[in-house]
Amino acid sequence: MHDYQHLSLHKDEHNIAWLTLDVQGKPANILMPEVLDEIQIACSEVKHLAANGLIICSGKANGFIAGADIERFKGNKDAGNNIELAQEYIGQGQHTCDLVEGLDITTVAMIDGFCMGGGTELSLACDYIVATDSPKTKISLPEIKLGIHPGFGGTVRSIKRMGVMKAMPMMLTGRAYTGRIAAKIGLADFCVPIRQLKSTAIHAILNTPAKKVVPAHMRLLEKKPMRSIVAMQMRKQVERKANPNHYPAPFALIDLWKEHGGNASDMYEHEARSVTKLILTETAQNLVKVFFLQSQLKGIGDKSLLSPKHVHVIGGGVMGGDIATWCAAQGLQVTVQDMSDEALAKVIQRANKTLKRKFKKDVISIRDSLDRLIPDKAGNGIASADVIIEAIFEDLDVKRQVFKDVEQKARPDAILATNTSSIPLADIAEVLQTPERLIGLHFFNPVFKMPLLEVVYDEKVTHEVQTAMGCAFGRHINKLPLPVKSSSGFLINRILMPYLLEGVTLHQQGVPATVIDKAAKDFGMPMGPLELADTVGLDICLHVGKILSSSLGINLPDNLQTFIDENKLGKKTGTGFYQYKKGKLVKPAKSNWTGDKHQIQERLISKMLDESEKCLEEGVVENADLLDAGVIFGTGFAPFRGGPMNYLRSKQSA
Ligand code: NAI
Repeated sequence: MHDYQHLSLHKDEHNIAWLTLDVQGKPANILMPEVLDEIQIACSEVKHLAANGLIICSGKANGFIAGADIERFKGNKDAGNNIELAQEYIGQGQHTCDLVEGLDITTVAMIDGFCMGGGTELSLACDYIVATDSPKTKISLPEIKLGIHPGFGGTVRSIKRMGVMKAMPMMLTGRAYTGRIAAKIGLADFCVPIRQLKSTAIHAILNTPAKKVVPAHMRLLEKKPMRSIVAMQMRKQVERKANPNHYPAPFALIDLWKEHGGNASDMYEHEARSVTKLILTETAQNLVKVFFLQSQLKGIGDKSLLSPKHVHVIGGGVMGGDIATWCAAQGLQVTVQDMSDEALAKVIQRANKTLKRKFKKDVISIRDSLDRLIPDKAGNGIASADVIIEAIFEDLDVKRQVFKDVEQKARPDAILATNTSSIPLADIAEVLQTPERLIGLHFFNPVFKMPLLEVVYDEKVTHEVQTAMGCAFGRHINKLPLPVKSSSGFLINRILMPYLLEGVTLHQQGVPATVIDKAAKDFGMPMGPLELADTVGLDICLHVGKILSSSLGINLPDNLQTFIDENKLGKKTGTGFYQYKKGKLVKPAKSNWTGDKHQIQERLISKMLDESEKCLEEGVVENADLLDAGVIFGTGFAPFRGGPMNYLRSKQSA
């Protein structure tokens, strides 16, 4: 037997070979080149074992395989050697999956926990895929999110297994499927409780049960001329969501299938070529960078610093209600306090809806989350909570009053946090006997969608242990924590507000709202500044704008006040820069404005870039990478541009 580093191979009493992956020095199984090498060696050893079959499984508790080695995709287009390495790696991945598929015994991938990218491609090369029904089991081909598409043969094998109408959406969206859904759509063969996982895998080998086949009428779609028509439809659908100039990968995937879908060996070859070409694009390089930035943010919080069980939220409004529900959905006990019974009733009402949207048909998770969310008008939870988050309205005096009371009742080791978006931390902390305990935990609206959590500290007041605890808490509730210095607007609002106000100014100068918003979206922003202003509420925009304008020296456009005087507050009143019906935007008429659209875009984006540079100079965040990460995950800033500082650098070097 070979002396393996990253896997073990043994035979059981049923004469079945077990290949258990346990990649050394990594918390999750990653298909690094040396791991692929070992799988290849294992394939040739299995041939001499005269086994009844082979089961591939994981020796890690957290999941099956986290995917390919994304380090291999890092580089720049001038560094030719990197691309050669990437090319070699893709070839190695394809060959490994070919070897698994080519074994003349029955093979099974046994999945519990995550299974992503290259891990899914390796599973697809097996005869059977058995997955658990655990909510942690998530199977995906998320390569598109890195600006590429599957490259280890996954484009061919997923279509062969599931049919094009199921496989393409999986690859084009990068969506993850639970074991149950995977079995329903033909990705997995069986979905079973964890206690039956092994026996089901063994059963598959000993009995080779019949496999589901893709219906003939679906197969017809893969033949010419239907293939071209289906590809055209897919292209149209994808174009609605992604600009081909910004995101070429989904279009390359559709073209790959359109051109070579009928011929597997041709498609394998062109899959590899297409992926290596995509890796070279600036989009893929920036998206790979974003992937690592996300890991960097995840690494900021050291979970071992605390093990929170109970969170107490004060204020059951828009933010407090959603923060409480989010924490309950993450498995924590939550008490939520508000002086108004009506507000508390609304928290539960809204939680019902939000949790249904999050967990879909998973009624057990919905029920358990609701059980953990307890209205607490009297604030009894303060005394026992590990973390106390204040989210009452933006009023310094009232917030001070609340914290004075909280400090008296809370445990001495409890984290005290405010969700304020504009009040300097030191102003609130002033009334505390232990001001160094207070931190900001600034969530973004909507809490269920925005991954970033600003952990706000005041250099002179906050104890650094508290900031570290805040970051650790952020990881416990599955947010991306970013430490930011307490200053006007912290990081995100400070960068977003000048962009938003520039949009309002342009409108005041006669540029139609649709032109302004389109210019921003063409750059890659998820929402134009005026639709954003309508969504936030024009009254809130003016309020925050006033606070920031005095400290940042921004000119406030007059037309905001005019809108407010006419009770046009945006989405919530049905009118703002746009019209809304039942909360939905009424499609505005096209404009025939003939001015310089590029200049509009420049004006909007340069506001964000300028403010980003100032934030760095003032040390609001520690470095440019963290600033990029914060702005991407806090505002949705065009991810394919790699963040404002990365964009500035690439503009300067162009
Ligand atoms: P809101 O007005 O929707 O809710 C405030 C709630 O606090 C109300 O239900 C009110 O009854 C309750 N409340 C007031 N005084 C209280 C007290 N002494 N004890 C218990 N409950 C009390 O406000 P919203 O929008 O949820 O904002 C809350 C905080 O979050 C503010 O500091 C705001 O700056 C911040 N924030 C708001 C964001 C947003 O988009 N709305 C985004 C990020 C932060």
